[in-house]
Amino acid sequence: MSSMHREKGIADFLLQHREGEPVSFHMPGHKGAELYKRFGYETFLSNFMDCDITEIHGADNLFQAESIIKYTMNRYKELYEVRKSYLLVNGTSCGLIAAIMTAVKPGGRLIMARNCHKSVFNALTLGNISPVYAYPEVIKDSGISGEILPKEIERLLTENPDAEAVIIPSPNYYGICSDIKSIAELVHQKGKILIVDQAHGAHLKFFSRFTDSKDNREDGHLLPQSAEECGADIVVNSIHKTLASFTQSAVLNVNTDKIDLGELEDKLQMMESTSPSYLLMASLDINADLLGRSGKSLIQEWKYNLTEFYKAAGKIEGLKVINTGSNMDWTKINLDMSFCGLSGHELEKYLMRENIFVELVTGNIVMCMTGIGNVTKDYERLLQVLRKISETNMSGQQKEAENHARVDFAKLSKDIPRQEKLHEIPKKKKHVALEQAQGLVCALSIIPYPPGIPLICPGELISREAMEYVKALRDAGEKVMGIDENNQVLVGDQE
Ligand SMILES: Cc1ncc(COP(=O)(O)O)c(C=O)c1O
Repeated sequence: MSSMHREKGIADFLLQHREGEPVSFHMPGHKGAELYKRFGYETFLSNFMDCDITEIHGADNLFQAESIIKYTMNRYKELYEVRKSYLLVNGTSCGLIAAIMTAVKPGGRLIMARNCHKSVFNALTLGNISPVYAYPEVIKDSGISGEILPKEIERLLTENPDAEAVIIPSPNYYGICSDIKSIAELVHQKGKILIVDQAHGAHLKFFSRFTDSKDNREDGHLLPQSAEECGADIVVNSIHKTLASFTQSAVLNVNTDKIDLGELEDKLQMMESTSPSYLLMASLDINADLLGRSGKSLIQEWKYNLTEFYKAAGKIEGLKVINTGSNMDWTKINLDMSFCGLSGHELEKYLMRENIFVELVTGNIVMCMTGIGNVTKDYERLLQVLRKISETNMSGQQKEAENHARVDFAKLSKDIPRQEKLHEIPKKKKHVALEQAQGLVCALSIIPYPPGIPLICPGELISREAMEYVKALRDAGEKVMGIDENNQVLVGDQE
């Protein structure tokens, strides 16, 4: 593309990026054109622009699906073995908002994991819904958020009988799943609705479906079951994150007869574009076709590559791979090379120099998000670089110094502080410097991005720890939403 007459733009960036033959360990899960080509979709790819149409005669309508779109919806319904599936073109984000606004009446209450994605917080505002927070466990070694325990949900259900629904993310960004089966039982005993944000786990159903349970082991544990299999009522899947459709395309599954489908459909059309992209919907159709035709071989290849990767990674000195046991979706590879003296960002930089791009860095952890489109050589290239880092950093006197060089994770990462009570946000608000915000009531969410989970929510007091953590993120050049270019935050003006 010629850039002679204009500044470098988005298209130039994308084309330049692909020239370096990057390895993708980030979203989306298709990882480029190769997967589609391999399964006979070259004609679709080479006629991409011509397939970008609108609701012409015969093209059906997303919001009143009767023919080709209904056909793809039904394919998902069969693949996930649920009551009904809806295609989404505004990501899991729009599905979560629609699901919450269907399950909880305006002004009602919702039990929600405090580490929910920001779209869940947006649903609170849109539906005038009050949250009751369930706090995740903290993984001791690494400081990251873990499961939401059934006993936490049980307690909150008992204390808040007026809450109408429960929502939790599973897997969370790092791949840690909650015990959805037990949580679903507790929620159903109280006659409430369970919504699971399975944005990061669209593939789980297919790991259970296409691999034998004894076959499905890594270090002696199973990949967790999908929320659909565990009995959640509504499950929203970002097909784009780990499977083969385009970014922004997702599927909402209804798994119960307790949901008013008319109301859900009304909320879905409210939250989505009235010009849904046929390219996105076609990519969902193609993904369903790949899973239907070759799901078993694709999932088994993926599993084989992961198993080989973990075996080889286990032999690399100085490399730690986070593994929380049977609740781990190990398609997310969490690497820690702090024993070689590298923080997460330093490790990411090493990888980027070799054209390997990852999804997320938190403290010392680099999360590589694998997807259905990753091939053996992607894993090999990652291993090669990790070995090189280990050899360079673990040799001679550096090896002796390993513990001194270790980055103090606790200083770099921060779990969400527990705050039982939300404060009223005064009508009058003001901007104050981050350093002066301690003890004030937050009026605009402060969200490190990624992972897009609010660290401080409106109505919460800004603690010293949270303030210092946000400052450290900003100093490290991280993106933090809710802080302006002058490093100010919006708080309630109590005077
Ligand atoms: C836990 C979680 N839920 C929901 C979403 C939103 O998904 P989408 O990007 O498909 O809208 C994300 C996005 O990263 C997420 O991390």
